Amino acid sequence: MSTGVQEQRLGQCHLVELHEHADDRGGLAVVETGTDVPFAIERAYYLYGVPEGAARGAHGHRELQQLVIAVHGSFRVIVDDGLQQTGFVLDRPALGLHIGPMTWRRLTHFSPGAVGLVLASAHYDESDYFRDYAAFAAAAREMRA
Ligand code: TYD
Repeated sequence: MSTGVQEQRLGQCHLVELHEHADDRGGLAVVETGTDVPFAIERAYYLYGVPEGAARGAHGHRELQQLVIAVHGSFRVIVDDGLQQTGFVLDRPALGLHIGPMTWRRLTHFSPGAVGLVLASAHYDESDYFRDYAAFAAAAREMRA
């Protein structure tokens, strides 16, 4: 699972070293439910063509869990639990970032042509989103009280 990567984490947010099979034909990285992510993968989407200087995300989720992978190029992910924040760099296809529930995230510093794959624990549901940081932080603090 997360062997061989830095032990940096914020709550359930941490880097996951994926199983990689590389030979002279190229690389192949694997994500399996129960092995690499603790949730059943219900949805995949990907980000591409992100202009220089643009940011994605800037929202939180109540329940959703995700694994984010830079399948091409690199970008940074800042995660925030309402009290603390930390930043991760995703820069290779066999490295994922698990983002747990009740996490605000912002994706920045996309390299030219970068592609971000997101594997998610549920279908798209706008009611699971926090689009306002102050509302997210207040709900996060309330859950901890
Ligand atoms: P948005 O939440 O702004 O993307 P990001 O997480 O990169 O900031 O989503 C952009 C649009 O895509 C918005 O209209 C919602 C829609 N969308 C879906 O329809 N299904 C999905 O699974 C996702 C992630 C977004």
